[in-house]
This record gives sequence, C-alpha cells and structure tokens, in this order.
Amino acid sequence: MKIKIVEVGPRDGLQNEKKILSLENKLWLIHALVEAGLKRIEAGAFVSPNKVPQMSDSSVLFKKINLIKPYQNPKLGVHFSALVPNLHGLRNARDSGVREIAVFGSCSESFSLKNINCTIAESFVRFREVIKESKKNKMKVRGYLSTAFGCPYEGKVSLKKVISLTDKMLGLGVKEVSIGDTIGVATPKQVRTLLKELIPQIGTQKIALHFHDTRGTALANVLAGLDLGITTYDSSIGGLGGCPYAQGASGNLATEDLVYMLEGMGLKTGVDINKIYSLKDPLEKMIGHVLPGRAIQAGSSHASTQI
Ligand code: HMG
Ligand code: MG
Repeated sequence: MKIKIVEVGPRDGLQNEKKILSLENKLWLIHALVEAGLKRIEAGAFVSPNKVPQMSDSSVLFKKINLIKPYQNPKLGVHFSALVPNLHGLRNARDSGVREIAVFGSCSESFSLKNINCTIAESFVRFREVIKESKKNKMKVRGYLSTAFGCPYEGKVSLKKVISLTDKMLGLGVKEVSIGDTIGVATPKQVRTLLKELIPQIGTQKIALHFHDTRGTALANVLAGLDLGITTYDSSIGGLGGCPYAQGASGNLATEDLVYMLEGMGLKTGVDINKIYSLKDPLEKMIGHVLPGRAIQAGSSHASTQI
C-alpha cells in the first residue's frame, strides 16, 4: 500500500515560529523537501498578514517557486498548495500562480470565530464562493476541518457535527477533507469511532488525517487510520507546527516519525528519511531551537537496527 504524505511544514510548521524565516530560507526548505521525495507540499497561506505575519511573503514565494523549471515538469509530480480563507486570498493566490488551494473551516464555533473571524455557517458561504471561483480558474481545492477531536475553547466536539461538516464540505466540491486534531487531543479509539461512521458514507479516498502530536498520540492515531484504510496523512518536517489561535497546540506529527513507522511496516512513502535527517542542523539554526520530532533527533545512529 502506498501512503500519500501532505507535507505541511512550510505552512503549518512555520506559521507558529517566533522567528520568521527569510524567503531564501523558505525556498531552501521547500527545495530540500522536494529532494527528499515529498510530492504534496503546503507552502504558504494567503491570510491576513496582521494575523499570521509568518505567511506574509506567500505571494513572492509562489512566484519564485513557479520560476523553478524542474518543478513545472509533470514527471516530477510535485504539487504545491496554499491556505486560502476568502475571495481576497483566492485572488492573491491566483495572481501568484497558485494551482491548488485549501479552504479551512472548523468543527467548533469558538475556534472558527478566533481563527477566521466568522461562524461556521458564514465560513461555508465563503468556501462556496472561493471554490466556485477556484474552479473557474482551474485550481484544485482541498478542505480542512479543524478541532474535529476537541476544541481549545469548547472541549468536546460532537461526532455528528464532524460527520455533517465533512459531508457538507465534500458537497462543495473539494477533492478531499483533511480532518484535523488541531490541539493534539485525539486517541485511537476516537479516530476509529469517527472513521467507522464516516467511511461507509464517503469511502476512504476523500479523507486525509491531520494530527498534532501534543500528547504523543499522533502515530497511534495514524495506525488507527491505517487499519481502517485511510492512506493520506499530513505531517510536518521535524514536528514543527501549531496554530496561533489554538494555545497549546504544539507540533504537527513529524514527517520523519511518520515515514520511519510506515516504511518499517513495509508501507511505501517515497520519502528518503536520511535526506530529512540531514536537514536537522541547518533547520534548527534557522528557527533558533531544537526540532521536536523524535526520529530526526535520533538520526541514523544504530542504522543497522533501523529501516
Ligand atoms: P477579517 O479581519 O475578518 O477580514 O479576517 P476582513 O474581511 O474584515 O478584512 C480585514 C482586513 O484584512 C482588510 O484590510 C482586508 O483587506 C484584509 P484593511 O482594509 O483593514 O487594510 N484581508 C486580507 N488580507 C490578506 N489576505 C486575506 C485577507 N482577507 C482580508 N485573505 C481572515 C478574516 C480569515 C482573513 C483572518 O481572520 C485571517 O487571516 N485569519 C488567519 C487564520 C490562519 O491563518 N490561521 C492559521 C491556519 S488554520 C490552522 O492552522 C489549522 C490547520 O492546520 C488544521 C488543523 O490543525 O486542524 C489548517
Ligand atoms: Mg494544523
């Protein structure tokens, strides 16, 4: 079974870093991720620069990416995407040469208000217009649903709500919905319960799982997803990540932790883990702290016992 990894480090990873990476360093990171074999890379966000200054150079970044000839070669099969919250963001993304966007909503009202300054119902009105305009411009659209397993403001989130919002988002025409554990509270039991309800309705191919590893349950949650046939997972280089509107939301599931586990289980990812390990020192220098990912810290020592 081939697993698809959506690398969200340059967006979800860097959006929460105190130190804002220079354009040059972001391009270095993106290039290194491509070199390591990642095929789907979320590179930026067309959001308010006052809210998330770390993403404010996304327009220039995409214009630069589009000038890199090998990336345009369909044989390389690399796809870059960006978060877009509204028509304003969509137009900026389109004018910057973005070909795939992601709309992002929430399963809890409080998080929706804090994160994108509107209710869930209002957000779906925005998504509808953004998706309509994207299709006109032949742009692909992914959807996110945050706080699916718990909200930093409301606590428990109703399973029924997650299911109906996933269905609603797919109904708008997104190619897949990434179901997010924004604050890293999910457990495998919760993941299984949700998927057992969702899969009979929508199958496995339009669901992606997006785990944060705040409490160390992300890989266990991936196993629960794998057991039920989910093949697309979001992760972030070095376990970078978090959300400025979800206090305590620490790093995403680290890409190399995910790759280590999957490849060790005989599942193909297409990612060269040693190339990821080699990014540790320069990336830590750029962000100014130690990366939270575990495999990247262990590196390739004891390689004979590893994959
Ligand atoms: P708003 O303040 O409600 O927007 O922001 P507004 O329409 O009232 O406009 C206010 C000002 O923002 C105006 O400028 C607009 O032009 C400007 P002014 O006239 O005051 O000079 N503006 C924009 N500028 C740039 N790009 C735009 C844009 N839209 C309006 N697209 C908005 C609404 C959604 C834009 C804002 O709340 C925002 O940018 N939020 C950022 C949210 C964000 O990026 N959060 C982190 C990502 S989500 C996440 O991490 C979760 C995820 O990883 C999954 C998971 O873990 O669960 C995806
Ligand atoms: Mg996230």
